[in-house]
Amino acid sequence: MTPTPETLSLIQPDDWHLHVRDGDALTSVVPATAGQFGRAVIMPNLRPPVTTAEAALAYRDRIMAAVPEGVRFEPLMTLYLTDRTRAEDIARAKDAGVVAVKLYPAGATTHSDAGVTDLRHARPALEAMQRVGMPLLMHGEVTDAEVDVFDREAVFIERHLHTLRGDFPALPMVLEHITTAEAAQWVAQAPGPTAATITAHHLLYNRGALFVGGLRPHWYCLPVLKRERHRQALVAAATSGNPRYFLGTDSAPHPAHLKEHAAACAGCYTAPQAMALYAQAFEDAGALHRLEGFASCHGPDFYGLPRNAATLTLVRQAQQVPESYPLGAHHIKPLVAGQTLRWRVA
Ligand code: NCD
Ligand code: ZN
Repeated sequence: MTPTPETLSLIQPDDWHLHVRDGDALTSVVPATAGQFGRAVIMPNLRPPVTTAEAALAYRDRIMAAVPEGVRFEPLMTLYLTDRTRAEDIARAKDAGVVAVKLYPAGATTHSDAGVTDLRHARPALEAMQRVGMPLLMHGEVTDAEVDVFDREAVFIERHLHTLRGDFPALPMVLEHITTAEAAQWVAQAPGPTAATITAHHLLYNRGALFVGGLRPHWYCLPVLKRERHRQALVAAATSGNPRYFLGTDSAPHPAHLKEHAAACAGCYTAPQAMALYAQAFEDAGALHRLEGFASCHGPDFYGLPRNAATLTLVRQAQQVPESYPLGAHHIKPLVAGQTLRWRVA
């Protein structure tokens, strides 16, 4: 066994699934990501959602304005797929440099009410995306109230993914923030250009984390944390070296008062500790040597983008996570508030 290194230098990583919101909240959270990642795929679930190239470019400008002086960071913009997205909208988005389109089944998660009600409505857009090679990013959960919340991802795969993969064989597809053994396995075996993002929290925690010492709303996200055997399957996938799996934090900031609420918002805020958390998960699995592929190489390779030229160094040195951060006029609690982590960014 080789001794654990005290520092770990990586090609600078990218975050392939990130929420930064808008307005004052955006200004508060963007620096946390820009301090670690070269690029991030920005989720379009604003209110109203980002459904046009023009809206995506304007949003990009607002994000760039929040990047600290002297920091190089590139937001990669996405479009929100609706029942009414047309082939022309896709062509225009492609020309504007939008990198992908996000499918939220209507009602699946935070700000998804404008999402797709029936995949048949999305066919013209999906055909246009397939023609230009623009990835479809999927929130892979059915919204059917009859389906148990812990089964919604597996049922989405059964009901929709097999058909979708077959109908659009050349469409690049990313199953976002996978949480189950079924999803990891589907991604490994699916034909065509297929990949998945995996969050740090789904690698580190199982659904028991929601209930330690009481009901803990900061640990509630969608898709919800699953049982231990699923966490182990995700760790195996992320640390396998298979290029179909890559980093996507799904850091999803909500102010503390809307998390500590009778109907708590879904979403974990992990951006400030993202790389420290991933390093911990990979170290626990004895797979630190696989972190660079997962965090820095597989994502750009899938998207057909160059890997970052810069490097990021992690140091094996304890860091104490703050209890909260300002979020515009409010405050936000990071997922691991108050905990001590083993790694930090140099
Ligand atoms: C995300 C959010 O808050 O925007 N929430 C979450 O629990 N992950 C939406 C999403 O990605 O599902
Ligand atoms: Zn998300």
